[in-house]
Amino acid sequence: MVATQAALFEMQKLIEPSTARLGVFDDNRSKAIHRWYPFIEGYSADLVEAALIDVGGKDVHVLDPFGGSGTTALTASALGFDCSFCEVNPYLAWVAEVKVNVARAAAESPDLGLLGDLAAVLDAGGKFGAPPGDHPLLDVDAHRHFFPRGVASRILGLLAWIDANLTAPLDDLARLAVTTSLIPASNMVRRTDLRKRHTGDAPPAHLESTVASQLRMIQADVIEAAPKLGGCAVRVAADARTLTPQPHPFTTIVTSPPYLNGTNYCRNTKLELFSLGLLEEAELAELRVRSITAGINNVSKRRAAPTLTDDVEQVAQQLDSVAYDRRIPALVRLYFSDMQVVFERVRSASALGAAWLLDIGDSRFAGVSVPTPELLVSVASSVGWRLETTRTLRERKSYDGTPLTQVLLSLRAA
Ligand SMILES: C[S@@+](CC[C@H](N)C(=O)[O-])C[C@H]1O[C@@H](n2cnc3c(N)ncnc32)[C@H](O)[C@@H]1O
Repeated sequence: MVATQAALFEMQKLIEPSTARLGVFDDNRSKAIHRWYPFIEGYSADLVEAALIDVGGKDVHVLDPFGGSGTTALTASALGFDCSFCEVNPYLAWVAEVKVNVARAAAESPDLGLLGDLAAVLDAGGKFGAPPGDHPLLDVDAHRHFFPRGVASRILGLLAWIDANLTAPLDDLARLAVTTSLIPASNMVRRTDLRKRHTGDAPPAHLESTVASQLRMIQADVIEAAPKLGGCAVRVAADARTLTPQPHPFTTIVTSPPYLNGTNYCRNTKLELFSLGLLEEAELAELRVRSITAGINNVSKRRAAPTLTDDVEQVAQQLDSVAYDRRIPALVRLYFSDMQVVFERVRSASALGAAWLLDIGDSRFAGVSVPTPELLVSVASSVGWRLETTRTLRERKSYDGTPLTQVLLSLRAA
């Protein structure tokens, strides 16, 4: 890494109290529309808002190459900007589109009250049985008991009723109310990763009451917040590594990429993916290959040898000698080579001078620190991005108790 970049990382060790919450989703839980799908791996709307208020003006073209649940797109829309995004997970991409595009269309709908009518039927004890036939959700539930008995079939019954009785844009809002109730009504809990409930965890919630309260919240938020949405969300690619130049070069990029050794976004949303028929179990492995290699279980033998900068190779070689699992150095090599492709693709789709705000944290494996932000800057510099500032958002801890930091990198297209 060049000396000036090292100095920039040194200068920003002090954490301002106001930044500690910017890198986490928590504050979005009380914000209209953002709260429809609490996404633990998301960041705060305030982080995006600060970035976009700064840019102001005309000819602003916003991109989030790792769109997730659409925090960037929704915040941009509230400020009047369209937002292009990439998101490999079809469920998360759909959630982002519902929160922005469907919400905007629903603000104009004279039938919005139908959501409240459905909520009333559900609260009065209405249940909808599954239509006959096979379904991926029933198949996996039969083997793995993800849901209390009969719940998977009631989920599918509700979704079938929505298909038959509601039309756009209300149908997608109602589907979102159902899919966001799946985990609360299941035998699973989401604690970063999805796992079975333990004895200390709360019991599964009642499906129909949960869907009813989601429907009411969605209806209220559409009335309150959707009329103020001025921009739309446009998915320009699924895999950010395949992004191509668009009619307008991007001027402003705001994103949080997958963290190294982070969450398995495909496995964590599999029940939602299956229930909407967006994916079947056999296709999960393929979705993992299309994702940035960010976790040890994503290290695929099918992947070609990566191209690397010297700094990344140095850390990977340290891990070659100490790691208890050969997949760990492979993970590090694949992660940074995947991210290099994204930096290259985004650079070729961006204007000269475009600003990129990137939220990321470092990692530690087998006692070896992986300075992810510094290595990302090194990889980004090799394909036309220059580091301008870094800002520490908050301190974290690795599994062995070593302090880790989450930072906000500010890059510019050189
Ligand atoms: C940290 S999350 C982004 C969260 C987002 N900022 C929010 O607030 O909802 C990273 C996202 O990158 C997505 N992702 C992983 N690999 C990808 C790829 N190759 N292309 C596009 N998105 C990808 C994951 O599915 C995940 O949703």
